[in-house]
Amino acid sequence: MKFFIDTANLAEIQEAYDLGILDGVTTNPSLMAKENISGHENVINHYKAICDIVDGDISAEVIATDYDGMIAEGLALAALHPNIVVKIPMIKDGIKAIKYFSSIGIKTNCTLIFSAGQALLAAKAGATYVSPFVGRLDDISMDGIKLIEQIRLIFDNYGFETEILAASVRNPIHILKCAELGSDVVTCPLSAILALLNHPLTDSGLAKFLADHKKSADL
Ligand code: E4P
Repeated sequence: MKFFIDTANLAEIQEAYDLGILDGVTTNPSLMAKENISGHENVINHYKAICDIVDGDISAEVIATDYDGMIAEGLALAALHPNIVVKIPMIKDGIKAIKYFSSIGIKTNCTLIFSAGQALLAAKAGATYVSPFVGRLDDISMDGIKLIEQIRLIFDNYGFETEILAASVRNPIHILKCAELGSDVVTCPLSAILALLNHPLTDSGLAKFLADHKKSADL
């Protein structure tokens, strides 16, 4: 399973990359705004900075919601770096844009997926990734993890090559459930990745090993 980090914060991207487990990055307009990245030039430079840190797929989201606008924006984003994946919302014109980008070999990530039907349409259009939002479904008392299971079954039934990129993944349980169900990728904040490190028995076990080592060294 691939790990992507879901942030536009360069320090966090660097920290995850330095861990040696990072396969890519997802961003969205809200994450860019959180880092105070605004204005065309700054946004473009920020994507370039991310590409300089991580050698892996970097999702950059279009702002346009009409076909022509998404095509123009997507072509410009894709021209920035070979690792850029054009992130396109799950809307009617988005599906048409995904079909076009797929026909010319530009990678896409269909975002804001909340149902298996949406994922199926995006895969039919040739999306490289679909992004089901696990956490936001949980937020409205629906089962986000169940959606991953459903999409996995459908994609496997028909051999779709579209990868399931579980998004809005917010904690270690989400990550593990996605791994159990065969999600191809999870994208989550650095905090969720780092939380996988923790176990109280690891901490107490290490403390005991070090104490015993010190005791024997003191003899
Ligand atoms: C996906 O690509 C989105 O950027 C993201 O995972 C949304 O997560 P959130 O629901 O925690 O905002």
